[in-house]
Amino acid sequence: MSETAQIKLSENTYDFPVITGTENEKAVDISKLRDLSGYITLDTGYKNTGATKSAITFLDGEKGILRYRGYSIEQLAEKSNFIEVAFLLIYGELPTEKQVADFQNEISHHTLVHEDMKKFFDGFPSHSHPMGQLGSLVCSLSAFYPESLKLNQTEAEINQTIIKMLAKMSTIVSWIYKKSFGHPVIYPKNKYDYVSNFLHMTFGQRTEDVEIDPVLVDVMNKLLILHADHEQNCSTSTVRIVGSSDCNLYASISAGISALWGPLHGGANQAVIEMLEQIKEDGGDTQKWIAKAKDKNDPFRLMGFGHRVYKNFDPRAKIIKKACDDVLEKLGVNDPVLEIAKQLEEVALKDDYFVQRKLYPNVDFYSGIIYRALGFPTDMFTVLFALGRLPGWIAQWKEMKENKEPIGRPRQVYTGYTERDYVEMQAR
Ligand code: ACO
Repeated sequence: MSETAQIKLSENTYDFPVITGTENEKAVDISKLRDLSGYITLDTGYKNTGATKSAITFLDGEKGILRYRGYSIEQLAEKSNFIEVAFLLIYGELPTEKQVADFQNEISHHTLVHEDMKKFFDGFPSHSHPMGQLGSLVCSLSAFYPESLKLNQTEAEINQTIIKMLAKMSTIVSWIYKKSFGHPVIYPKNKYDYVSNFLHMTFGQRTEDVEIDPVLVDVMNKLLILHADHEQNCSTSTVRIVGSSDCNLYASISAGISALWGPLHGGANQAVIEMLEQIKEDGGDTQKWIAKAKDKNDPFRLMGFGHRVYKNFDPRAKIIKKACDDVLEKLGVNDPVLEIAKQLEEVALKDDYFVQRKLYPNVDFYSGIIYRALGFPTDMFTVLFALGRLPGWIAQWKEMKENKEPIGRPRQVYTGYTERDYVEMQAR
């Protein structure tokens, strides 16, 4: 017999169906609550609200499980590569050899960005924040590729926009990197796979073909895979809600980029390194900074610690910590902030405040140290997160469209004035 939930409101009792997901997670479907009773539910920050049914990513925060389309993040990070994971997320299955070759080939043939966009790009001040540039450039793709604006597109048309989005994103990200040094941009080369092409455009030179270090390719693939999707987080929900108004893919992704920027979300990777630097310059006393993080009168928080969903450990953080040790050793980089990070983690994991609140290092705690070792400036870190998250945003946008979800429009409980009469200026 199917399970139901009862809600008693004043004299009336209402029955609501219980929905069970494939991993046995339960939800009370209250979509008819207001029609039946006139009441709504209130859940600020959506801590307890399912916004959709989704078949893309499964996450169990208590057990520290993360799976894309059923495949564990551990297996994907070890055995797969970013372009294969992108295909898996967007189209639902691991690709065959031919499918992945065609996918890569199509992407490679769209990596050039309209030359006129460069004029627009040149107009940014040289020190403008990379995330501001990224959001604007991605949104402006809708102006340069206006076919994406057409309503009721065929599957093939939507697919073309998806390919262009994936292709042009890596070119745009590398342009932004080059601009931060005042260097000329490097054009893509079709002979490379997605990640190698990105590294070529980022670290390559105009004058000579630079050998792409397989260590960089490997770690970059890992980082991008670990960031590729994370179900209904702040930026992904933003992408879905913007897309639900029938907004084009580029503008929806641009909105997700804005949502990702904040230090409580993707911007944490930049904030972590800035925090570690600050602690180092202050003499490296980790106990002092732990005490600050615990002090409710001090706004300081331990960046890279805590997560809305993971309350045991973040499986991505485990993988990234190991990747961080490996890559620093392979590249022969000795970064003093890594020591501070490890000390902070050790102290915090034993401290009652962090233990009771289930605060553990999240994916951003170590990713910044790797990006730094690869040579990226700190304010580029969140842009790299966005590059990784792109297939997830696309998959979620596509799923929302395929499910024909209604426009996202939450309600509210109004707490302002009740009706009052307008008062003439002289009488105020
Ligand atoms: N340092 C110190 N205390 C913390 C931290 C932290 N990093 N994170 C949470 N807490 C405390 C809060 O003060 C609160 O304490 P209280 O119960 O005594 O009031 C308790 O832990 C619960 O914290 P909330 O803010 O209510 O938890 P929420 O789920 O809303 O926030 C968040 C999660 C935003 C990630 C939070 O832990 C945080 O700010 N972390 C630092 C920023 C960060 O690393 N963000 C990246 C997240 S991962 C990602 O987006 C990719």
